[in-house]
Amino acid sequence: MHMPNLNEARKRTEEKVLEKKVEYNFSKAFLNKKYFLRTYGCQMNMHDSEEIRKYLELLGFRETNVLEESDLVVLNTCAIRENAHEKVFGYLGRCKHLKREKPELIIAIGGCMSQEENVVHEIKMKHPYVDIVFGTHNISDLPKLLLEKKEAQTKMQEIEVYSIEGDVYENIKYSRDSKITAWVNIMYGCDKFCTYCIVPYTRGKQRSRKLENILKEVEDLKINGYKEITLLGQNVNAYGKDLNEGYDFKDLLERVAQTGIERIRFVTSHPWDFTEEMIDVIAKYENIMPYIHLPLQSGSDRILKLMGRRYTKEEYIKLFRSIEEKIPNVSITTDIIVGFPNETEEDFLETLDVVNTCQFDSAFTFIYSPREGTPASKIKDNVTIEEKEKRLQRLNDLVNHYSLEKNKRLEGSIVPVLILGENEKDKNKVYGYTDTMKLINITGGHNFIGQIVPIKVTTAKSFSLDGEIVR
Ligand code: SAH
Ligand code: SF4
Ligand code: F3S
Repeated sequence: MHMPNLNEARKRTEEKVLEKKVEYNFSKAFLNKKYFLRTYGCQMNMHDSEEIRKYLELLGFRETNVLEESDLVVLNTCAIRENAHEKVFGYLGRCKHLKREKPELIIAIGGCMSQEENVVHEIKMKHPYVDIVFGTHNISDLPKLLLEKKEAQTKMQEIEVYSIEGDVYENIKYSRDSKITAWVNIMYGCDKFCTYCIVPYTRGKQRSRKLENILKEVEDLKINGYKEITLLGQNVNAYGKDLNEGYDFKDLLERVAQTGIERIRFVTSHPWDFTEEMIDVIAKYENIMPYIHLPLQSGSDRILKLMGRRYTKEEYIKLFRSIEEKIPNVSITTDIIVGFPNETEEDFLETLDVVNTCQFDSAFTFIYSPREGTPASKIKDNVTIEEKEKRLQRLNDLVNHYSLEKNKRLEGSIVPVLILGENEKDKNKVYGYTDTMKLINITGGHNFIGQIVPIKVTTAKSFSLDGEIVR
């Protein structure tokens, strides 16, 4: 048994990161058994679930999307805000119920919540029916843990979570969600330690993958017909800084663009490491999409400083302007937190001011949620939850106003869309994304799934567009 430990998770040393190869020499011991996998959180977690799915398939499992039919439940969890916790513990209640009727059901919990000391303690004390807890650093141990569970036939809870800085795994196989778009990890972990954020503790230190390994993956995806890739990292702009190989994110982007894959995206950009050279590369290559997710978090210099973001309002706006000037037709979205401890009305108005200045294409907005073990969670807060909710509402109203306005400008124009599939609610429609990452629903177009086609925008709403095939 290995329990997570916050102090260990905080450590950053100069120790060299190991590159490990995942081995796939296990048996199909679970032939004809069914698994149910539920994923919470960010793209990184969704991509990890594609790795988990592969292990389960190789063990002989088949997927079901009916919880009650499953022999194994895997919850891949997120810890970013308290409501993520609540959702998972709520769902665990259902699993517990099911296990009463079906004692042989195996329940496994992975993801960022398993890296949290308090959560694992709670699972140990209050949720003994959970069979396996595995962390973000040892996803590839899941087959071993499942096989041990099967052989031992015990009711013992198996907790295997490491609070380590982390390694880089290569040779990972994925069972990908899509045959058209794919995620590609370029780095793991985060060293920024924004004072409100749990990620550096749950994901370990920043570890970049070697450029040649990333390129090889992209080339394979291209050969296999993938049209779009999204490079993943908590701070893609800091790519390579930990490697000392003499290359950075702009070099990686350029090399990936030169593979000729049709569409390249990347998340998340941190304003701190975003250089002018990177903007130039994005502007230069047609296959790098004109879309940047650039989290602001707050418009108040005082709050930004307390958050440890290491840029000012003015620096953010300057970077924003430069991106807008150099990349034609770019769309820029953001993340904003309201109600950081002791945020004043003036601080909040500074945030609204940046929204008015930048007029984001869209924004994810959150109420600050204290995370145990982070520096911000120790600050005594004098803002009431009612006030925070009011600010969130005011912010959302403004954000949505600009989203609609930005989208309205597209009405009547023709935009390139990668069509991904049938619209689930309306079988007469397909959906896809514009180059600028706007969701668009299109009447007809079933013949074009998997292709990039020009689409005429007919109607714009705040969160999506409607369009038609250009004849
Ligand atoms: N690495 C990315 C963000 C990953 S988390 C970056 O630095 O931009 C996604 C978003 O969740 C963050 O941008 C932030 O807006 C929000 N978030 C993170 N921690 C939070 C917390 N404790 N409370 C509320 N929102 C939080
Ligand atoms: Fe969290 Fe900050 Fe790292 Fe983003 S950069 S993952 S917000 S610590
Ligand atoms: Fe959540 Fe972990 Fe992603 S905390 S947002 S799943 S990195």
